[in-house]
Amino acid sequence: MSAWPILAKAWEAHDALDAAGPQARKIETLYWFFLAICAVVYVITILFIVIPAIRAWSAARRRSQAEQLEVTTPSPGAEQRRATIVWGAVLLTVLIMFALLVGDFATGRALHAKPTDQTPLHINLTARQWWWEAEYSDAMPSNSVTTANEIHIPVGRPIEFELRSADVIHSFWIPNLSGKKDMIPDHRTKIWLTADKPGEYWGQCAEFCGYQHAKMRLLVIAESADKFEAWRGAGMQPSTEPLTDLQRTGRQVFMQHACILCHTIGGTEARARVGPDLTHVASRRMLASNWLPNRPGHLAGWIIDPQKIKPGTRMPQNYLRPHELRALLEYLEILK
Ligand code: CUA
Repeated sequence: MSAWPILAKAWEAHDALDAAGPQARKIETLYWFFLAICAVVYVITILFIVIPAIRAWSAARRRSQAEQLEVTTPSPGAEQRRATIVWGAVLLTVLIMFALLVGDFATGRALHAKPTDQTPLHINLTARQWWWEAEYSDAMPSNSVTTANEIHIPVGRPIEFELRSADVIHSFWIPNLSGKKDMIPDHRTKIWLTADKPGEYWGQCAEFCGYQHAKMRLLVIAESADKFEAWRGAGMQPSTEPLTDLQRTGRQVFMQHACILCHTIGGTEARARVGPDLTHVASRRMLASNWLPNRPGHLAGWIIDPQKIKPGTRMPQNYLRPHELRALLEYLEILK
């Protein structure tokens, strides 16, 4: 099955006007406030253009019917009326701009306010060309969970994202949950958000960051506190041990080829952090920063020739023999 229907569904779910949390709701309200004011201003402006034009046209018609060609000069009273209208419009414009500024400023302040009602869940999010690394840190290092491109959060609890970039400027944006926040190298920033409805919310890097900027997507899964804790608990576990010979061979293939140079698999000697942590890769819904569904066929295509799917990505082509690829896939599929 092609990836497109799944992606089309995902894009539908990308909507700043369908807020699923207090921060996004503030932005949505601001949007409608701006839109309403601008719509009224637009209509009034158009009326000021159209009504005089109609009047002038009908006056010209009357004049031509009467064959009167002399130019009429406006009376002093009409001049006065026009001046009043112009100055009134200037004053109104200033007031409207001020109202928009106040609305904008109040929303900005509300978004940057740290939530005080509950201790936020802290997630370190690092943007890289072209994927996201999420780390749920814990006072006990062995309880930290590192994952990529798919973030699980509990519904109703504020989340504090500490944002950083490992290379160029990226931008964090999950339209249903919050506004944008740039991720700048050597400059950590924070953003708070809360999801108040369970669901899957799509994010997208919102700052052009190179060739595969468009394929730098982020999936946020908001779920009940119980489900979240279960997910986190599973994430703390080391990787599943291979049981069959084929799975064992697959692990060997991983350790003896280029894979080990870039990836971590918890509980094995693979500890590199150039690419995503693969300890629980099989539990993730998608691959390649949410570009491909996580199915064996797509995974095989990705391993063999990632440059065809995301040209410029740091993952090289891998020349594996068919039986090696089969064993490797068999092994990766058990990493739930
Ligand atoms: Cu990262 Cu655009």
